[in-house]
Amino acid sequence: MKEAGEKIACLTAYDAAFARLADQVGVDLVLVGDSLGMVIQGHETTIPVDMEDMIYHARCVARGCRTALRVVDMPFMSYASPQQAITNAARLMREGGAQMVKLEGGAAQVDTVRHLAEQGVPVCAHLGLRPQSIHKLGGYRVQGRSEHEAVAMLEAAGALREAGADLLLLECVPGLLAAEVTANVDVPVIGIGAGPRCDGQILVLHDVLGITPGRAPRFTRDFMAGAASIRDALSRYVQAVKDASFPGPEHTF
Ligand code: KIV
Repeated sequence: MKEAGEKIACLTAYDAAFARLADQVGVDLVLVGDSLGMVIQGHETTIPVDMEDMIYHARCVARGCRTALRVVDMPFMSYASPQQAITNAARLMREGGAQMVKLEGGAAQVDTVRHLAEQGVPVCAHLGLRPQSIHKLGGYRVQGRSEHEAVAMLEAAGALREAGADLLLLECVPGLLAAEVTANVDVPVIGIGAGPRCDGQILVLHDVLGITPGRAPRFTRDFMAGAASIRDALSRYVQAVKDASFPGPEHTF
């Protein structure tokens, strides 16, 4: 799809019902995100989410999802060493039906990504704003604004790809930097708050449905507004990603 220039529509899901719906409306990739800690479990951050939570929700999603690629997040501290990452990625694949795992990290995760890739585990590397590191980053802020940070992100993206990452995800990154990363790697780059020039887009299901508690992030759009049903809202989201009408300048940093 990257080579063909077809935008990749991605969405989070946490249960069989929404996974089925996402599949039916043409979502290309379903992510069982550790955002479930916030939108399903009601925590303030994703940090309390553990392997048992991820496996439970991944199994639910696997029952509903037939066509879309199923990607499952590795939760906080489940990949602190390459060996631990292998053990837990194997559980997500065997017990949770994951077809790819996602981990948060830049240059520090290159060895772990290489180790996973060498063992045949498809990996998505999540760069930019990394919610599991929120206390280290000091808040939910755009990443890569300074020259130094931008260069580090570009280098990390290249190194992760070279180590075997099959997909990159950029969260809250200036649109121009995201476009540069996307042009520099030969694997798809999925953005969330990373502007329109990534190969695809992802949003959290609850943001698409306009039911996020509190103030919705600037980079989201409530697709329920004006939609006839939940199915219609998800379908409009897929359409807007495919025809590149979402994200617009108002969603871009
Ligand atoms: O956990 C999640 O839902 C994510 C998305 C924000 C991309 O990582």
